[in-house]
Amino acid sequence: MTVTVVVGMYWGDEGKGKIVDYLADSYDVIVRYQGGANAGHTVKIGKETYVLHCVPSGVLTPDKENVIGNGAVIDLQALVGEMTELSSKKKEYKLYISNRAHLTLPYHIALEKRDGAIGTTKRGIGPTYTTKVERTGVLVGDLKNPDYFRKKVQANLDRYKPALDSLGEKLNADDIVAQQLSFYPAIEDMITDTVYLLNGWLKECKNILLEGAQGALLDICFGTYPLVTSSNTTAGGACTGSGIPPNAITNIIGVLKAYPTRVGEGPMPTLMPDDINEEVRKAAGDEVGATTRRIRRCGWPDFVAAKYSKIVNGLTSVALTKPDVFDGRQQIFICENYKRGDKIVSKFPAGAYDLGECKPELRPIDGWNNTSGVTSYEKLHDNLKVHVELIEQNLAVPVSIISTGKERDSTIIRRPELIFPK
Ligand code: GDP
Ligand code: IMO
Ligand code: MG
Repeated sequence: MTVTVVVGMYWGDEGKGKIVDYLADSYDVIVRYQGGANAGHTVKIGKETYVLHCVPSGVLTPDKENVIGNGAVIDLQALVGEMTELSSKKKEYKLYISNRAHLTLPYHIALEKRDGAIGTTKRGIGPTYTTKVERTGVLVGDLKNPDYFRKKVQANLDRYKPALDSLGEKLNADDIVAQQLSFYPAIEDMITDTVYLLNGWLKECKNILLEGAQGALLDICFGTYPLVTSSNTTAGGACTGSGIPPNAITNIIGVLKAYPTRVGEGPMPTLMPDDINEEVRKAAGDEVGATTRRIRRCGWPDFVAAKYSKIVNGLTSVALTKPDVFDGRQQIFICENYKRGDKIVSKFPAGAYDLGECKPELRPIDGWNNTSGVTSYEKLHDNLKVHVELIEQNLAVPVSIISTGKERDSTIIRRPELIFPK
């Protein structure tokens, strides 16, 4: 039995979807365990491109069991819309939804209008996790008891009345209940106690792949607080968001994009100068948010951040993605330390303010070329191999996968024993 977690190592959009889709064929079950419709995982299969927000990336591989775990938050309109789109592309999949997952309801999305300053995706994520912690949240499992469901919705509307009034939001419980129940038939048969389901499959020695959303530096506890998302994006969230116990986890793969990117507000010390940022975005062809279409700011490889991410996730290996985007560059800069005033900072600071005070110490390394679509390590440019070894030295963890393009088969496997079921 193998249980593998895939997490993002920077601020999201590292290519988790591509890696999960690649690995899905070797596993029996794929689980999304946190986040909601804020995620955007783009997967390219042949000529078709899929952008998944709520469902696990395993839905694109036939005959897999897919689960949305208790740690996720669910906007039924977004979920049902995504399911409809998958059906229109003739995708058939099996999906289970945790009865413990919390619903994102119209008042969550309305309330987020107050929080614009941190540049959220405006998908109601923060307010949904807020009501979860305030113990006023509505569970997916509550849908089967419409009277109880209505009572909870009304209680929230009452509680948030002053805020909703000040935003000019006129919401009423009957409309919300009617709208939510209109989505119910599409998902009713999928709702179950996924804690027992997953633990039953563990007993049967099924192989399970847990898909993270966002990235470690957006984690509510470990990220660049307060400019973070509202869930535990790090590997610990895979257990609390699924009910799979920590001692069942066998592998933790950190997805390390060749360069960090960030959408929304918040510092990123290694931010590239505008002209290079633009060139990299053009070379990548897609550094635009899949959910909000906002531009992703790009930075040079940041080992201070990556090392921190390795520690908080307990990574057993790294999947390096998008090194092909640097193809043709003579020089790349890497950052192994920050500086604050004249002090060297080698530990990732605990909050956005302190991180914003740090400047990167950049060191040039020789660039590489002809990475795109390469499928064997031997064929990579020598300078990229040196960079891969530098990552391994800095992080003290092996690079098990190198992704060399969007397509499934643009993938190099270096350490199969660290990523595939035994
Ligand atoms: P996620 O949110 O972590 O799943 O990442 P996104 O899907 O939001 O963003 C990653 C983007 O990079 C997507 O458009 C992928 O198709 C693309 N991508 C993934 N891996 C590679 C790679 O190795 N090379 C290139 N050029 N693109 C990649
Ligand atoms: P994937 O799964 C990149 C960012 C938002 C904002 C902050 C809080 O595709 O990697 P939220 O709406 O979650 O309350 O916003 O987090 N953010 C992401 N950035 N990729 C994502 O998901 C993100 N999900 C949220 O831009 O800065
Ligand atoms: Mg994304």
